[in-house]
Amino acid sequence: MLKVKPAKGLQGQCRVPGDKSISHRALMLGAIARGTTHIQGLLESADCLGTLEILKSLGSDITRIGPGEYIVQSVGQDQLREPEEVLDAGNSGTTIRLLLGLVSTRPHFFVFTGDASLRRRPMDRVVKPLRQLGAQIDGRQGGMYAPIAVKGGPLQPGHIQSPVASAQVKSAVLLAGLGIPGPTTVTEPALSRDHTERMLTYLGCPMEREGTTVGVTGPRELEARPITIPGDFSSAAFLLAAAVLLPDSVVTIENVNLNPTRTGFLEVLRRMGAQVEIANIREVCGEPVGDITARSSSLQGCEIGGDLIPWIIDELPLVALLGSQAQGETLVTDAAELRVKESDRIHTTAMELGKLGLKMETFPDGFRVQGGQMLQGGQCSSCHDHRIAMMLVVAGLLGREETWIEDPKCIGISFPGFVDLLNELCLEQCVESF
Ligand code: S3P
Repeated sequence: MLKVKPAKGLQGQCRVPGDKSISHRALMLGAIARGTTHIQGLLESADCLGTLEILKSLGSDITRIGPGEYIVQSVGQDQLREPEEVLDAGNSGTTIRLLLGLVSTRPHFFVFTGDASLRRRPMDRVVKPLRQLGAQIDGRQGGMYAPIAVKGGPLQPGHIQSPVASAQVKSAVLLAGLGIPGPTTVTEPALSRDHTERMLTYLGCPMEREGTTVGVTGPRELEARPITIPGDFSSAAFLLAAAVLLPDSVVTIENVNLNPTRTGFLEVLRRMGAQVEIANIREVCGEPVGDITARSSSLQGCEIGGDLIPWIIDELPLVALLGSQAQGETLVTDAAELRVKESDRIHTTAMELGKLGLKMETFPDGFRVQGGQMLQGGQCSSCHDHRIAMMLVVAGLLGREETWIEDPKCIGISFPGFVDLLNELCLEQCVESF
């Protein structure tokens, strides 16, 4: 359990752990890039270490040389061999979906599974496109759910029209495309995060892009280059939200990834009238990086929907919390994807904030929350979802009374050290583990 006490404010300067999406990709692309990849700033969280273990089972040569620092040696795509065991992706959608694409052209047999949450999440969104390219792939309920088995082999180039704006689907197709002779392209309804495209370009693979269509022409070997991973904007978002919502607060988070396909939350903070500044913008390994400062602010409600949604998808539970403390109403639409994350985040956000005294209205694709509500504190649960857990910790800082959060261990999925860092920034210690 975590006990969270009402906080007086948040002040200081800090860094957050490495970006989760970029860490997965650094390991995967390092595993197939010819030569030596020196990775710095890798997120050593449960999700990314899960990807690392699977890559080792596939024959990758990965050595840890220090905190967040790894050396990956590879001869290229042929480095990937047939694993002797079932590959367990744990809680991580990125691990299973991207790796399904990556291994689909390798001439071996692979079986992937995951934890109870991952086994409930839709896999047909990658199974169908890979089948369309000729993959022999199947799983529970016709390929809808893991466990998923792939009999890898030669695939044919093709064009995939994805019905969802999902970086995981897009990346699975592009990673398969690296091993397919000819052009493989994917169109998504709105642009999702583009870390895969940026890292492939950085590693010397030309990308063909037109609007929301992107493709690679294979077969294409990558040349290893050093990869430095910036801080995770999605982790920073919890600290930014706390700084904006608490009185007497000013927090600077240095070295954060500022890829525009990830920072929709900054746009929403601006729309709500929050005081947020960006400084020291630079480019690191093809990704924009900078420092973010957020201060105590009075907020206005706002409406969020359309093409902005994929750029703020992981931060939407926080938007519900911000909206409840703003003036007026906050409305989120077009976000049905939240229903198929680590938990049904529309349901879990409303249910758990409800236990702390907040009311909100939910729809199949979003929610509406009235501002000016009082958080009472109380007992709630992470629902085994790391982002719900951390959003509830921030809610606890604003409570009138103490907040108790059950099952907070999942925070380690994306943000190891979150509680310690928050306590360092709080004017007095606010979070205790039991
Ligand atoms: C991710 C993509 C997003 C995001 C997830 C990480 C990635 O999922 O929610 O946390 O690393 O590609 P979708 O691509 O399914 O929207």
